[in-house]
Order: sequence, then structure tokens, then C-alpha cells
Amino acid sequence: MTWIDLGNPAPKDTIEPYELVRWPTGQIKRLPSGSAQHDHAFEQVIISRRTGREFRKIDDEQLGRLLRQACSSREAWPSDHSFDLEHRAAPSAGAIHPIHLLLHLPDDPRWWLYQPQGHYLVEICGAAARLDVLLLKCAEVLEGNNAVHILFVAEPGKTLAKYQDGCSLIWRDAGALLAVIALTAHAQGLSFCPLGITGEPWASTLADQGQLVGVGLGLLGAPR
Ligand SMILES: Cc1cc2nc3c(=O)[nH]c(=O)nc-3n(C[C@H](O)[C@H](O)[C@H](O)COP(=O)(O)O)c2cc1C
Repeated sequence: MTWIDLGNPAPKDTIEPYELVRWPTGQIKRLPSGSAQHDHAFEQVIISRRTGREFRKIDDEQLGRLLRQACSSREAWPSDHSFDLEHRAAPSAGAIHPIHLLLHLPDDPRWWLYQPQGHYLVEICGAAARLDVLLLKCAEVLEGNNAVHILFVAEPGKTLAKYQDGCSLIWRDAGALLAVIALTAHAQGLSFCPLGITGEPWASTLADQGQLVGVGLGLLGAPR
């Protein structure tokens, strides 16, 4: 067995400012905030959640609702590291939230970055060429032509600005976010399946200097 020891995270003694990745952005797509609907009760969700592996297309209202509840920012405040700390539905080490969600929607070749603070999508220019092979790899794992592909892309420098030996925190953040999305999808009557592939080596080509890395994928749609 090979266990990769990621060490034991500890806050650094000195405050390190961090310059966020600059994405090559294009068109903006506003999302509906998601009309109030009666979700399943929390207890019902906890006892009945299952992975869904068949997907029908969802509309912007359904996507907006999922992202609003599971991924949007509820509160943000400035930090000494030159980026905001935030409260969202998922916990995150240091309130840093280093994981970006990149979305590929059915019938649209573009990839979109979800902006948790403004609850909208922004097109990432040039991403399609870099991630096309990744879509094929996803299809080898699970057919998802009608699904929204959600690629988890970590920006480790955010978490590592505060913590030494912080890589395991990023993987645990990815798991926490995955669980919140899975539970929220189920509560909203949607189908969600995490994929075991990470998105590597394709996700990291989205930045020139190794600032981004794929830490998972999930498929989202309406159940059949
Ligand atoms: C990190 C992770 C990776 C997974 N990868 C896959 C996958 O590649 N393909 C798949 O069909 N299901 C995948 N799953 C879903 C599991 O197979 C599923 O959670 C498990 O079978 C238990 O079923 P349940 O979620 O319905 O309780 C993954 C789940 C997790 C948490």
C-alpha cells in the first residue's frame, strides 16, 4: 500500500499575502436566485440520499437554486492575505474556500466559472480547448450528455498562504463541498453523482504557473 503523507497542517507564523489567479473571462450569465420551493425535510434528506446516475437536462432555475443553496457566499470579509474569507453552506479550513466550480452545461461548448459572491456564471475563455479531453474521460466513467459537469478546481495558494502542510485541508474542503452539493441536490429532487477522477492533468492547464489543480468532478441533472 502506498499512503501519501500530506503532513499535519498548522497555521504559519507570518502572514503571507497571496495574489489570486486571474481568469481570462468572457460573457456573464446571470442565474435565477431560485424561487422558494418546498424541499424535503433535512431528516428525510439524510436518510434517503442516494447517488443518481441518470440525468435529464435541468433549466437555469434548477441550476440557480442548487448553486444558491449549496455554493453561494452568505457573508464575506477581508483578510490579511488579500482575499476575502467567507461563510458558505460548506465548511472550509480558515473560511478560505479555495475550490472553484467550473460548469459545463449540455449543448454549450463553453465552461463557466461560478461566482459565489455574486451568484452568477462567467465564461472562461479558452477553457473548452483545454478541457475537451476531460469531457471524454468523464464519459468513459459515466454517460452524462444531458448532465451539468461540475469540475472542482482548487487554488491551493489560498489555503497555503495561511497553513503550512495544508494540502490535506484542500482535499477535505473538496469532500465537504461534494457532500453539501450531494445533499442539496437530493433535497431539491435532482440527481447527482461524484466522479472518482480528479480532472487532472487537464484542470491544471487552466493556469500557466501551476496555481490551479483539479480535485474532483460531479454530474448534475434531473432524475429519469
Ligand atoms: C469521492 C467519490 C467518488 C465517487 N466516484 C464515483 C464514480 O466515479 N462513478 C460512480 O458511478 N459513482 C461514484 N461515486 C458514488 C459512489 O459510488 C456512491 O456514493 C456509493 O456507491 C454509495 O451509494 P450512495 O451514494 O447512493 O449511497 C463516488 C463517490 C465519492 C464520494
